[in-house]
Amino acid sequence: MTTLFDPIQVGSIEAANRIWMSPLTRARGTREHVPTPIMVEYYAQRADAGLIISEATGITREGLGWPWAPGIWSEEQVEAWKPVTKAVHDKGGKIVCQLWHMGRLVHSSVTGQQPVAPSAIPGPDQVHTYEGKKDYETPRELEVSEIPRLLDEYENAARNAIAAGFDGVQIHAANGYLIDEFLRDSTNKRTDEYGGAPENRIRLLKEVTERVVATVGKERTGIRLSPNGDTQGCIDSAPETVFIPAAKLLQDLDIAFLELREPGPDGTFGSTDQPKLSPEIRKVFTNTLILNQDYTFEEANDTVEAGHADAIAFGRKFISNPDLVTRFKKDIPLAPDDIKTWYSQGKEGYIDYPAAEKA
Ligand SMILES: Cc1cc2nc3c(=O)[nH]c(=O)nc-3n(C[C@H](O)[C@H](O)[C@H](O)COP(=O)(O)O)c2cc1C
Repeated sequence: MTTLFDPIQVGSIEAANRIWMSPLTRARGTREHVPTPIMVEYYAQRADAGLIISEATGITREGLGWPWAPGIWSEEQVEAWKPVTKAVHDKGGKIVCQLWHMGRLVHSSVTGQQPVAPSAIPGPDQVHTYEGKKDYETPRELEVSEIPRLLDEYENAARNAIAAGFDGVQIHAANGYLIDEFLRDSTNKRTDEYGGAPENRIRLLKEVTERVVATVGKERTGIRLSPNGDTQGCIDSAPETVFIPAAKLLQDLDIAFLELREPGPDGTFGSTDQPKLSPEIRKVFTNTLILNQDYTFEEANDTVEAGHADAIAFGRKFISNPDLVTRFKKDIPLAPDDIKTWYSQGKEGYIDYPAAEKA
């Protein structure tokens, strides 16, 4: 029977186990969105994960509104990522880069330009900026004529990720950011070929994926989706009509892996009564499927043993347990994470969570 500790071949990536680190924004880059040396230490500490999915990483200045988050559009950023990927590889780990365009969920005080989105609908609540929280601005509706340059930007970022030494990329199509805004009908009110019927709303995901596959290879391409529930004001009225065809499309493109973030009704990182679609998605997406959110070790192992997923991604547990794989293996109690240092700058709550045992 397959357990969480068994290795798995994912496209061209040999993952040593099925305990993966989910993408975690930690805001430890520079103000110019360049990775820093403490990020080298942080990722190296977590290299025992079967696969590390990096924190969301901006493909362009337009798409990156999170203060202190890293990007991957420039040569300087590529150079600064190299020590991170090398440190993970030196410890026998694997790491892919999560490619991020935040769509409407940015503020012009960070990006220097008006946010863009499928439709001119602002995000709910408030957005992080260097000057504290501010109201969301109304985004500009992306013109169809701008899609080619957007695809070029994904291509540039994907190529840069490989140049920086990443083992592959994960296209961030979840959590209410640009691609997700196109997928779901609360944020996509377009009447052109990118809006309306599900097949139109899936079009941007399809085109971005095709371009990334053409750039780095399908064996190095993964996707993250969040099909059920509301994330940052983005929700679909009939998710199964969008996400099952989307998963089928991703299988047709034969990408290496698909990760789903699925809250349940009692979720602690968002919750929803919309049912999880993973059982249906598993039927149409037959390559590597990873599930996420609120998994304990036992639930994760049962899920993999039962064949409902091939791996489980853990987020908050990896923040405070750099040696999570060892702790699971030896049944060592887990350390709690501290929300106050999730996005703070500096080492505290970042590289100072100790391993339970000396290496
Ligand atoms: C501090 C923090 C930062 C996060 N950043 C990202 C991110 O950059 N990209 C992403 O797709 N999800 C992000 N997430 C969501 C996590 O990947 C994951 O879905 C969530 O923590 C639920 O999984 P868990 O219950 O194992 O923690 C973040 C979550 C947290 C707590």
